[in-house]
Amino acid sequence: MPRMTIRPILLHPDPRLKKAAAPVGEITDEIRVLAADMLQTMYDAPGIGLAAPQVGAMVRVLVMDCVKEEGTDPRPMALVDPEITWASEETAIYEEGCLSIPEHYADVERPSEVEVRWTTLEGGTATERFGGLWATCVQHEIDHLDGKLFIDYLKPLRRQMITRKMVKLKREQARA
Ligand code: NI
Repeated sequence: MPRMTIRPILLHPDPRLKKAAAPVGEITDEIRVLAADMLQTMYDAPGIGLAAPQVGAMVRVLVMDCVKEEGTDPRPMALVDPEITWASEETAIYEEGCLSIPEHYADVERPSEVEVRWTTLEGGTATERFGGLWATCVQHEIDHLDGKLFIDYLKPLRRQMITRKMVKLKREQARA
C-alpha cells in the first residue's frame, strides 16, 4: 500500500470544477496513488464521496463510502471511468452537500436507483446497482467528472447566492 497523502480540496468557484475530466483507460500506479489519496482526503474531511477534479486531477476517478451504520465495516470504493448504464424512473430527494461547497446544503432530486459500470483499480470491470444514499452519492460524484455541481440543479437565484458566499469565504481564507 503506498503512503497516502491528504490533498487540498478545491473550493467552488474554481474553473477546474466546471470542466469535464478525461477518461483514464489504462490503470497506472499514478491512478492507484490518486485513488488512495482521495480516499484518505475524503475520510479526513470527513465526507462520503470525492471526485478527482475536486483535488485538481482532471481524470475520471471517484471514491465513496456511504456506510453510516454504527459498528458496520467501512466500504471504501474507487471507481475509474464510471458510467451510468441504467437509471430508475422513480426518483428520490436527498439534501446534498459537497466538500467543495462547505456548509451549503440543498434538496436535489435524482433517480432513486442507478446501475453503474466502472473500471476497478485492478483493471477489471465491475457493475453494481446502487440505491439509497449510495445512488445519490455516485450520481453526485459522476456529475463532478462532467463539470457539474449539485448547485447547478438549484434555481439560479439560490445558486448565485451560494456562489457569492463562497467567493467571500475564499477571499477571507486567502487573507488569513
Ligand atoms: Ni461534491
